[in-house]
Amino acid sequence: MRTLSLTARLTLIFTLVTTTSFALVGVLLFKAASQRIIEQDETNLVLSARHLRRLAGEFAALPDLVAHQDRLVISVLGDASNALRITGSDGQTLVDHNPLHLPLAFPDTIAPDQRLVPTMLESLRDTHGDTVRGMAAAGKLQDGTLITIIVARSLADRQLLLRHYQRDMVRRLLAGMAAAILLGYLLIRQALRPLRTLAGQAATISAHNLGTRLSASNAPPELHALTATLNDMLSRLEEGFSRVWRFTVDLAHDLRTPIGNLRGTNEVALTRPRTSEEYQALLGSNIEECDRVSRMIENVLFLARAESPQFALQRSVFDVGDELQLIGDYFEGIAADAEVDIRVAGHARLLADRDLFRRAVGNLLSNALRYTPRHHAIDVRVEEAPGAIRILVENPGDGIAPEHLDKLFDRFYRVDRARGDSAHSAGLGLSIVRSILDLHGGRVTAESEPSGTTRFTLWFPTAPP
Ligand SMILES: Nc1ncnc2c1ncn2[C@@H]1O[C@H](COP(=O)(O)OP(=O)(O)OP(=O)(O)O)[C@@H](O)[C@H]1O
Ligand SMILES: [Mg+2]
Repeated sequence: MRTLSLTARLTLIFTLVTTTSFALVGVLLFKAASQRIIEQDETNLVLSARHLRRLAGEFAALPDLVAHQDRLVISVLGDASNALRITGSDGQTLVDHNPLHLPLAFPDTIAPDQRLVPTMLESLRDTHGDTVRGMAAAGKLQDGTLITIIVARSLADRQLLLRHYQRDMVRRLLAGMAAAILLGYLLIRQALRPLRTLAGQAATISAHNLGTRLSASNAPPELHALTATLNDMLSRLEEGFSRVWRFTVDLAHDLRTPIGNLRGTNEVALTRPRTSEEYQALLGSNIEECDRVSRMIENVLFLARAESPQFALQRSVFDVGDELQLIGDYFEGIAADAEVDIRVAGHARLLADRDLFRRAVGNLLSNALRYTPRHHAIDVRVEEAPGAIRILVENPGDGIAPEHLDKLFDRFYRVDRARGDSAHSAGLGLSIVRSILDLHGGRVTAESEPSGTTRFTLWFPTAPP
């Protein structure tokens, strides 16, 4: 089933509520009005009967009553639906006024001394099936003669009136309902306009104008939170886009340098004939440059893969001390060339991806080797901390100024771009370290003391997520 629009839903609810209340009020009003009319008629009927009984009591004898029957009939003349019949004790009709030929054979006759009240009224049906209300009450003349006074009223005209009233009410109710639907629809549409405005604003935003923000200045307060949330989302998207953009620019820039170097050295070599040793040296340096470019591409690819949600860690338990020793041995040659010592200490068992662990520590160690002065030592140790295993890589040197510390882990960030010899550094190593720690649910921190000691710490949680 197609889902209804918010306007349609609200209009439906509004219509349902108004129609139900209209109908309820209508039915109650109709009931009250019809009851009131019937009550009024019945009271009139009882009053007429009482009046007639009193009048009859003023007549001396039957002939007197028959002679003055106009005085009796006049009391019911006011309404064409009324009927009056007076009969003697032997059943003969003395007075008869019944223009509508209503049935008047009420089964009970009320005793002459009984007070007449509306509850004594009885019902009969005429030939058309309409109700006739009335009563037969005994009366006494002055000479003690008993007579029966029958008063009645047909309800046909009242039933007709109420049927008209009912039809009228239904017509008005339908018209009211139609007006309510239309008015409700228009008002709800108007009320939802800020939502459409917001959607319109959002529709104009694309990758080219992510700086645009939605405005909720004229919107009701309910929409302010939504607008703020959407704007926050836009800020995050903008930040993400600009990061990707910066990354692309930096990548292009950093690929240009080695390729420029390659081209330059080759061009220079070709300016004049060279010996085969010179060509060999050139090809050797070309291969080195190619290695550098492919290392960089490999690093960029690794970072992209590490960010994808499908990246799966190959976790295993290993001894960190042994692993650090292996990594230290691997860097032994470079350390010897740099005349720097690598000191490894500590033991701990860790559940982590061993290849990524090697890569993270290797990146820290290769940085440390670059910045440690000759005849100094790099300390690599593992310690157990509450809830984490931490690996510290510490080296003496010039240190890193505090303003750079939190940016070190950004891609392509190098403290001194001009000095940092871009032939060997791309500024990707630490961002890879951070990605690896993120994948393990851990973190990496950097500290640099005024003495010049720089310390990087890897925190691997002991209970991985
Ligand atoms: N131990 C250290 N001592 C002083 N500065 C450091 C140290 N480690 C890193 N840095 C600074 O942090 C910057 C970023 O390091 P990172 O490893 O991300 O990049 P890189 O070493 O320059 O290049 P890449 O690792 O991609 O070859 C370095 O350029 C350097 O300026
Ligand atoms: Mg590095």
